[in-house]
Amino acid sequence: MDEIILSVENISKHFGGLTALNNVTFHVKKGEVVGLMGPNGAGKTTLLNVIAGEYAPSSGKVTFKGIDITGLPSHKICHLGIARTYQIPQPFVTLTAMENLLVSSVFGRQKKREGSIKEEEEILELVDLKEKKDVVTGNLPILSLKRLEIARALARRPELLLLDEVAAGTTEVEIPRILRIIQEIRRMGITVIIIEHVIKVLFSVVDRIVVLDKGTKIAEGNPDAVMCDNRVIEAYFGA
Ligand SMILES: Nc1ncnc2c1ncn2[C@@H]1O[C@H](COP(=O)(O)OP(=O)(O)OP(=O)(O)O)[C@@H](O)[C@H]1O
Ligand SMILES: [Mg+2]
Repeated sequence: MDEIILSVENISKHFGGLTALNNVTFHVKKGEVVGLMGPNGAGKTTLLNVIAGEYAPSSGKVTFKGIDITGLPSHKICHLGIARTYQIPQPFVTLTAMENLLVSSVFGRQKKREGSIKEEEEILELVDLKEKKDVVTGNLPILSLKRLEIARALARRPELLLLDEVAAGTTEVEIPRILRIIQEIRRMGITVIIIEHVIKVLFSVVDRIVVLDKGTKIAEGNPDAVMCDNRVIEAYFGA
């Protein structure tokens, strides 16, 4: 199973004089779970934003399933099969949890789907929100919204899922739950790129880690190798 599903090649992103991403290259194989690590401000979310089409890169190329998606608008990229979550949950707050999933399900892919309440219920069950399906999401607590964010992305039936800090800021009790959800997503065969500061989560689920620091890729490899890398230790703890 060595088929490359996503290639990020020489991606740079500048915001005025600030270089958020500097010539970043990496590849993701179909079915892989790849972790994205780096100190605050390293460029992790910006990289997800470039892959998902929220920002066009200043230079470089992103290829998904052999298609050049560089600079495509986010809805087109979503329709091709990439779904992402937001660090700060972004549900439709006046809709219920189920209605949020139905919106994702019907409009998430190129070919419009019929909404299926039963199928969306299964997704809500996966994230432990089935009993909240009729609750207006503006009334849900933040931990539920974090899990709803994953459910909304799954309802788009993605082939590549981009998760931005779904465990960060949650409680110790919540972490095993998030771990179980990500393991389940892996079993579904969905390729995942996950940004996570909670090392326990990252190390339990990833095949490989890419480390960014100040917009530059400083290491890539299996979790043990990456954690022993001097450049990574320096980025986190100083020289
Ligand atoms: N829209 C924007 N306009 C200007 N600067 C931005 C914008 N988005 C990100 N940046 C800057 O780019 C750099 C990388 O930010 P980014 O949010 O990608 O970091 P991050 O690795 O996700 O950090 P964190 O761990 O804190 O979430 C930061 O210096 C940030 O201030
Ligand atoms: Mg971020």
